[in-house]
Amino acid sequence: MQEVNESIYDHPKYYDLVFGTDCAAETKFILGCVGQYLDRPAKRFFEPACGTGRLLYSLARRGHVVDGLDLNPKAVAFCNARFERHEMPYRAFVADMSDFRMKRKSDVAFNTINSFRHLPTEAAARGHLECMADAVRSGGLYLLGVHLTPTDAMPSDGESWSARRGHLTVNTHMWTNSRDPKKRVEKYGIRFDIHRPSGSVRIVDELVLRSYTMRQMDALIRHSGLWESIATYDFGYDLNDPITVDGTSEDVVYVLRRRPNR
Ligand SMILES: C[S@@+](CC[C@H](N)C(=O)[O-])C[C@H]1O[C@@H](n2cnc3c(N)ncnc32)[C@H](O)[C@@H]1O
Repeated sequence: MQEVNESIYDHPKYYDLVFGTDCAAETKFILGCVGQYLDRPAKRFFEPACGTGRLLYSLARRGHVVDGLDLNPKAVAFCNARFERHEMPYRAFVADMSDFRMKRKSDVAFNTINSFRHLPTEAAARGHLECMADAVRSGGLYLLGVHLTPTDAMPSDGESWSARRGHLTVNTHMWTNSRDPKKRVEKYGIRFDIHRPSGSVRIVDELVLRSYTMRQMDALIRHSGLWESIATYDFGYDLNDPITVDGTSEDVVYVLRRRPNR
């Protein structure tokens, strides 16, 4: 099979298929949080690091108003082409999630599957929480999904899954290349094996993510002074099954509430 070393984010069509499978559960969870944790109905939703906009589109299809941004222009173009195709008035834009400003405030923001960990430093992470606090109204929610580094258990290693649409199949495998807890850098290999009637190709990439233990994440949220963690879930996205985060936890969705301005 032909093999290329490229960013998976530069291949929005394959990315969208590979990560599309959880879309229904994530959308249900986001909307469920509105009912459970918001003081009034949600009008506007915002996703930083929206990628292909699979979740924005899923919410827009249900009649919600959406905003999004992403650093990758190819992902943003893919996202906006889908909005255009479906005659939806929304457009994501290219920006860095650690330094941006929104024209309008949202009721609910969300950032799933570890995108937040792309921010490489504490300063960038703090900048992100500050920008998000500006983008979400007082009392609004930020649903932040991160994979924590467990301190009381061995971290899980390796994951494979498959997705198919018509004649296109993408088999994905992810594995750990290295962990440096002192520098707080984890490197993951990821490959897409793409099978089409015209032939097969393998895309290989490495994701460099900042690591967070439970305590490091708690300290970041507390230090911001802008967000209060009001509930936690795992990536099962079951609203009836909140979790208590401890030293063995890995996949965690923090339900953060925007504190009122002082
Ligand atoms: C794992 S994908 C998630 C995309 C989308 N949230 C989803 O659930 O499908 C991570 C995304 O983060 C984006 N990203 C990485 N660093 C970023 C930054 N500093 N600002 C904005 N987006 C960033 C990447 O371009 C990529 O689209």
